Amino acid sequence: MKKYNAIIFDLDGVICHTDQYHYEAWKAVADELGIYFDEAINNRLRGVSRMESFEIILERYEKEMSEADKEHWLTKKNEIYKALLKNMSPADLSLEVKETLDGLRESGHKLAIGSSSKNARFILGQLGLGEYFDAISDGNNISKSKPDPEVFVKAAEYIEEAQKHCLVVEDAEAGLKAAIAGGMDCAAIGDAVGCGLGTYNLATFSDLLKVVEN
Ligand code: BG6
Ligand code: MG
Repeated sequence: MKKYNAIIFDLDGVICHTDQYHYEAWKAVADELGIYFDEAINNRLRGVSRMESFEIILERYEKEMSEADKEHWLTKKNEIYKALLKNMSPADLSLEVKETLDGLRESGHKLAIGSSSKNARFILGQLGLGEYFDAISDGNNISKSKPDPEVFVKAAEYIEEAQKHCLVVEDAEAGLKAAIAGGMDCAAIGDAVGCGLGTYNLATFSDLLKVVEN
């Protein structure tokens, strides 16, 4: 009997690292608008949707911005971000991540993605993982973003597993809260370890193999 039937992975910050690309794209937009933006603010954008990320950046904007203008800047940010994502290749997928995913699959786990990003499929394609996961739940199939559990609940639905049989892997506090709200255990990795919400804390990605064992 397995401890979990399925593992649902956040993408950005878990399977791959896109922080620097998000930073560069948001920085270009913020600079054009004359808004202060730094890495610390960028860290607050982890796990939250594109629009919510922009609202956080606009906390330092003195004027009001119309919804149409917001859409304009979101489109611009995404164009810059997508151009940067074209630099990603299968070489950006670490051997540790690939071997751990393969190990989890060999031990009979279903593997899914639960990401707030609307670019999730594009990123997975760049990494050579376009066809790898059993299901992808992302920013295109949700109406509420993390910490709402919708993205993970949908992922569990897509792979036809009860939420209590799924383990979520997350690098953002909003993502851990989403997993908990969805009745799922969660493994924290990276900065998310510090918030103390994880059912497990991973020092490194391959620790997942130990988590699902015992
Ligand atoms: C999440 C990132 O995975 O996706 C956030 O952690 C980002 O920083 C969000 O804002 C939305 O991404 P995208 O690709 O739809 O702009
Ligand atoms: Mg993340």
